[in-house]
Amino acid sequence: MQDIKTYVEQHKQRFLDELFVLLRFPSISADPKYKGDVLKTADFVAEKLKEAGADNVEVAATAGYPIVYGEKIIDPSKPTVLVYGHYDVQPPDPLELWETPPFEPTIRDEKIYARGACDDKGQFYMHVKAFELMLRTESLPCNIKFMIEGEEEVGSDNLGTFVIANKERLKADVVLISDTAMISLDSPSLETGLRGLSYLEVEVTGPNRDLHSGVYGGAVANPATILCQMIASLHDQNNHIVIPGFYDDVQSLSEEERLLLNSAPFDEEEYKEDLQISEVWGEQGYTTIERTGIRPTLEVNGIWGGYIGEGAKTVLPSKANAKISMRLVPNQKSEKITELFQKHFETIAPKSVKVKVTPHHGGEPVVTPTDSVAFQAAQKAIEESFGKKPVITRGGGSIPIVALFEKELEIKTVLLGFGLDSDNLHSPNEKYDLANYYKGIETIPLFFKHFAQLSR
Ligand code: BES
Ligand code: MN
Ligand code: MN
Repeated sequence: MQDIKTYVEQHKQRFLDELFVLLRFPSISADPKYKGDVLKTADFVAEKLKEAGADNVEVAATAGYPIVYGEKIIDPSKPTVLVYGHYDVQPPDPLELWETPPFEPTIRDEKIYARGACDDKGQFYMHVKAFELMLRTESLPCNIKFMIEGEEEVGSDNLGTFVIANKERLKADVVLISDTAMISLDSPSLETGLRGLSYLEVEVTGPNRDLHSGVYGGAVANPATILCQMIASLHDQNNHIVIPGFYDDVQSLSEEERLLLNSAPFDEEEYKEDLQISEVWGEQGYTTIERTGIRPTLEVNGIWGGYIGEGAKTVLPSKANAKISMRLVPNQKSEKITELFQKHFETIAPKSVKVKVTPHHGGEPVVTPTDSVAFQAAQKAIEESFGKKPVITRGGGSIPIVALFEKELEIKTVLLGFGLDSDNLHSPNEKYDLANYYKGIETIPLFFKHFAQLSR
């Protein structure tokens, strides 16, 4: 531990400078305008892996953005850790809400502000630096493989093909991912679940063209009004989702499991204060922790239609649209839920409009094991570096490839996340605490140490 701390202390500034370079690339996978920047980011990541000491580094082409691979095999008889992360980021909009530009990383109050600071550049880069540290201090006790992709934020469409084509190369005993959150540095925690996702877009069409709202309004269905009515009807008065069959496969937890989950530190007043809301919301009969961890949800991510420019225009729009996502929990299946949604949405559409439902990406929920050697190693690593046992939680977000790794490679994952829920992932002013960045770099080598020891 002392060696680790000393090394981090000596190289602190460089670790930060390098992360800043990484954060300056606008690697927005969703927007084709940034294609060149996304590709340059992949090259930079490969360069840094090489510099840190990785062998066989490759920027592997896919039908979309490349996957950066690198490895260090110290002894084939030793256990192997596969580190996964993503170098792409979410679009930064709305830009005007950023206090400092999203791709000019800035430190305020001991926090790094930038798009990707936490999700996931700041977090996967900790692994590159921890790897460097283990090599330079001759303490790498396992084989290590890196797989850093560039399409996580758009659904990892091409990762499946890569994984299936590279089963031998990706062979490992555990997948290690830092792309989730912990409660706080005072209450370190480990997430043991990720929700699945069904994402789709709906379009409601009324008349064949935009109409004068005085001449036609009141006599022709307004698709924006109809869309709002249809969306509003998807939850009942208890905020249950009314899509028939939606909850059929939902795994329920035992009373003990629920009690344990709810014993995690959570301050509802602080939560409300942080978000400036006077009331929480959600499915009746469940706590906030349960609503985001073990229950499925349905959200409108965006909704548009008609005139939204400056001033007023009196118009009855021809179309209205929304992007809708559902978060899924074990044992719901993304494809089935998408079908149930589609069927229901078409059924509830009044004859006055036409609806079109277009599925986007999806992903399956997972619960990671807590009785594995790898999970115990993570617990020990946290305990050693934080001086406290981690609280076990379930995360609300999704990383669809975790289920894919289980299915295709038969490898389980450990989610060793160092972000905070309040880090503004996908929002303006995304941040990552310097303390979490350095703590992560210190904790990762301890995971490797304990994993090697416990695997013997
Ligand atoms: N790192 C997040 C997922 C996450 C965030 C998990 C916080 C747990 C806690 C990841 O980059 C992400 O944003 N995933 C997307 C899904 C993807 C298919 C676009 C998500 O959860 O919306
Ligand atoms: Mn992420
Ligand atoms: Mn994300």
